Amino acid sequence: MSVDMDKLVSLCKRRGFIFQSSEIYGGINGFWDYGPLGVELKKNIKDAWWHDMVRGHDEMRVYPGAPSTYEMTGLDCAIIMHPQVWKCSGHYDLFHDYMVDCRETKKRYRHDQVNGRWVTAKGQRIFIAVVSDGAEAEAETLQRAKKFFNLRDKNLDELKWESPVICLTQVNDFSQVLAPEAKELGTLLPPREFNLMFKTYVGALSGEEGAAFLRPETAQGIFVNFKNVCDSSRVRIPFGIAQIGKSFRNEITPKQFTFRSREFEQMEIEFFCHPNSSREWYQYWRDRRYRWYVELGLASEKLRLREHDAAELAHYSVGTADIEYAFPFLPPGKFGELEGVAHRADFDLRSHMEGKLVKQGDQLVVELGADGKPRHKGSGKDLSYFDEVTRERFIPHVIEPSAGADRAALAFLCEAYCEDTAPDEHGKPQSRTVLRFHPRLAPIKAAVLPLVNKDGMPERALDLYRQLKPDFAVFYDDKGAIGRRYRRQDEAGTPWCLTIDGQTLQDNTVTIRDRDSLKQERIRMDHVAEELRRRLKS
Ligand code: GAP
Repeated sequence: MSVDMDKLVSLCKRRGFIFQSSEIYGGINGFWDYGPLGVELKKNIKDAWWHDMVRGHDEMRVYPGAPSTYEMTGLDCAIIMHPQVWKCSGHYDLFHDYMVDCRETKKRYRHDQVNGRWVTAKGQRIFIAVVSDGAEAEAETLQRAKKFFNLRDKNLDELKWESPVICLTQVNDFSQVLAPEAKELGTLLPPREFNLMFKTYVGALSGEEGAAFLRPETAQGIFVNFKNVCDSSRVRIPFGIAQIGKSFRNEITPKQFTFRSREFEQMEIEFFCHPNSSREWYQYWRDRRYRWYVELGLASEKLRLREHDAAELAHYSVGTADIEYAFPFLPPGKFGELEGVAHRADFDLRSHMEGKLVKQGDQLVVELGADGKPRHKGSGKDLSYFDEVTRERFIPHVIEPSAGADRAALAFLCEAYCEDTAPDEHGKPQSRTVLRFHPRLAPIKAAVLPLVNKDGMPERALDLYRQLKPDFAVFYDDKGAIGRRYRRQDEAGTPWCLTIDGQTLQDNTVTIRDRDSLKQERIRMDHVAEELRRRLKS
């Protein structure tokens, strides 16, 4: 089923999954708040990741596809770090997008996110620019061409389209470009670099001495703590350090709901291994991370693992793969990145030892300034690793699976959204909206519902609620007809409803209704916790 994004966005607001940040003041672009159900969903995603990657990791086991056993540990680093971190990592010089400004509308666009088509009519050839993509861009360029050339519907064949939708990066002459939302031609200014890091000032110093940045990724906190972790714990290579935390990027055009936000959460692993086994570890992590999404319910045909071709690879990388999802707001056949898994070789540890690196031939060397000194000096600390068993010293290679918690939440929401019919309490089919979350991710695991608000049923329901509450996210609801209560839970993605009815009072059994199959089974009240545990595990 293809999901209507407008309906999903409205459900997210109505049911308290996601709100626009500062909405009562008109909102602020690129920032989002998670409501009561949304915060549970996102927390469940982060908990599942932390459990499956870190806490639940069995370091004595060789996982399928892994070259050997390995260890996993965690970190929680500060958002603001020493500014030199970003100079050595390359973010200070290189973490930018190109933007184009429009003189007429005063709007700013990301150069590579503006598309359009060349068209000729009435002896004039112009490029009509839009910010949409695919079929939507075709429809929009047609409407704008009609208006610009002042044509009626019956004269639309006067428009001679020259190309399919192409990106503005393929256009050199801006004088004939009709900017998105502009009325005049040639109002777009040449592309300019724009660093995506948010700048702030630390302490009372407001000049450049006090300047610092909000981290644009959590990864660097792990690299600069590599030695601390090695020295303070007994981890031995191969091992991974995981971190979940907020990252900030001053995106030029945040868009597509939470997909491209200015504040978001990342779930990153830096996995340190011997250079000789790094390719095998790269393949292991790529496949392991892909499977994680499949196991949590992302349908395989909407999910894909895409290896970057050589031209796309960062200069230090031996391999990078993206785990991508066919989000419903993208044109058919297009996918959006959920996670990148990159082989980063020794680039990061060397950068923080020696200084910012650049490629020279096929070598990475410290970039020098005009004075012959390192352009951005490293820490000078030795971040190599000494293997006590093999007596070998080396700089570990790094495999980095880097995921976005907000993108994952959005993909799980899109995948879960479904409209179907289910019988009401009188057996009459009624349409319903249901979020078919994997039970591990569902914000509420079970709802406890007394069939009617009398005959001792609320008391028994409350007993059950109190019995379950310490261990499960359960919700008590006694308001309205039972059919309506089921539907409310379906819309929240609750996998099971537990109903206390007349029979409960006689034999201590309750019904457990399954959100997806709508099957109802009777189970003993004192078996409910065990049954929920079993279903959550299976
Ligand atoms: N340390 C590597 C790194 O940060 P990235 O591909 O730039 O790599 C990793 O980001 C993940 O973070 C992405 O796959 C995506 O899930 C998430 N992410 C990046 N930018 C984002 C944004 N503006 N809004 C939401 N999520 C974002």
